[in-house]
Amino acid sequence: YVLGVDLGTSAVKVLLVSKTGEVVDEVSKDYPLYHDKPGYSEQDPEDWVKQTKAALKELTSRMDDPSQVEGLSFSGQMHGLVLLGEDHKPLRRAILWNDTRTTAECREIEENVGLDRLHELTKNPALEGFTLPKLLWVKKHEPEIFAKAKVFLLPKDYVRYALAGDLSMDYSDAAGTLLLNVADKEWSEEMCEKNGIPLSLCPTLVGSDQQTGTILPEVAEETGLTVNCKVFAGGADNACGAIGAGILEDGLTLSSTGTSGVVLSYEATGDKDFQGQVHYFNHGDPNAFYTMGVTLAAGYSLSWFKDTFADEISFEELVKEAEASTVGAKGMLFAPYIVGERTPYPDSAIRASFIGVHANHKRGDFARAVIEGITFSLNESVEIFRNKGKNVSKVVAIGGGAKSELWLQTQADIFNAEVVTLANEQGPGMGAAILAAVGCGWYPSLADCAKDFVSYTRSYKPNQENVQKYEKLFKLYQTIYHSTKQLNH
Ligand code: XUL
Repeated sequence: YVLGVDLGTSAVKVLLVSKTGEVVDEVSKDYPLYHDKPGYSEQDPEDWVKQTKAALKELTSRMDDPSQVEGLSFSGQMHGLVLLGEDHKPLRRAILWNDTRTTAECREIEENVGLDRLHELTKNPALEGFTLPKLLWVKKHEPEIFAKAKVFLLPKDYVRYALAGDLSMDYSDAAGTLLLNVADKEWSEEMCEKNGIPLSLCPTLVGSDQQTGTILPEVAEETGLTVNCKVFAGGADNACGAIGAGILEDGLTLSSTGTSGVVLSYEATGDKDFQGQVHYFNHGDPNAFYTMGVTLAAGYSLSWFKDTFADEISFEELVKEAEASTVGAKGMLFAPYIVGERTPYPDSAIRASFIGVHANHKRGDFARAVIEGITFSLNESVEIFRNKGKNVSKVVAIGGGAKSELWLQTQADIFNAEVVTLANEQGPGMGAAILAAVGCGWYPSLADCAKDFVSYTRSYKPNQENVQKYEKLFKLYQTIYHSTKQLNH
């Protein structure tokens, strides 16, 4: 067996996976989020460790022979800053990916480095969620804490340190710090220097399937695992989500609709220039990369609509009402900016719109417009990829958007690509398990392992009549951002 530990924002979920890729058991344990001030989002790293150990203990207690767990790896929420002192204990709570206190620091980074050079070195824009702005915030606002800092880690790296005792970070997660030279796979001395961050704070870099240690004796006692259980570095949740969905070759794209939405595409090389329009990160296979666009309110737009206007019915009933509407929601468009947008407009102040509302429109037409609007927003990322010459012919859909026939067909028609679903959707924990399986030597490569562990079931082909209708509507949709920007700026 191997274990895939998915350290999420609300909970840690551990999957026990067999040699044939079957999930034979799983345990999830949650932990609190702290929002002490508006825009603040923090967690206590010791809560992650405590709950991960508790989940491991619960899993091993249900096994006949826990010594059969050969290896364990991680998927982690990205970007969160864990600052450690001399004794390798956290100096403060972790500042998470969804914390937005660092707008001023993002502008400082752009000034310190210059936009073109920033994109050249890091391949990414300076966004509030990334780690470097958080380091600068602590340096400015909590200088006494910053002065004590010896090294920084990302969330899953701290848990790995607690289980196996090594201080390291894998490339896929380091890519989200804004301190890594993504294409060259090394810490950027220039980014550190120009932003006043000592290079010595950056930990050792490792590959995601690289072994970094074994379970420490005291942890073995606490969790029921053995000291022979190998621990592998693991990767960022988006990289692991991609691995778990088999996005390991050119031409494959992932469309994930959770609260936020992600369109992620495999990149064989790190030499393209997207000018920071999309995220460009190292993959779990350290020789590969992926690009990624984000819709801030994807599933959240539909759940907001349901909670506000259709609280008395179920999601299934609301989708049925939407099915009774037409392609184009009888002349209505929705732009899903209820909490701002990320790709292609990194703009937290923009707000949502319904356009073209008629007295005859029913609730189902609005729901249809919401589903289409979220998909148009995801299509903005697909279009950025295609404009750079990428082949987006097959899209693997996961999350809420993969749970309804209507939404899957809408994705196929708006993306003008085949959309497929996973036979056994497990999320990033499966990607972590695949990293451990490859690390243990079960397979020569991630792609070989994914061929056995990941399979697709349903397929939705684009309907050309709808594709043409949506092409026209998408052009109109793209004007909404610019026409409504003044309203909230
Ligand atoms: C990616 C991002 C999120 C977190 C969620 O840039 O901020 O997807 O990784 O855990």
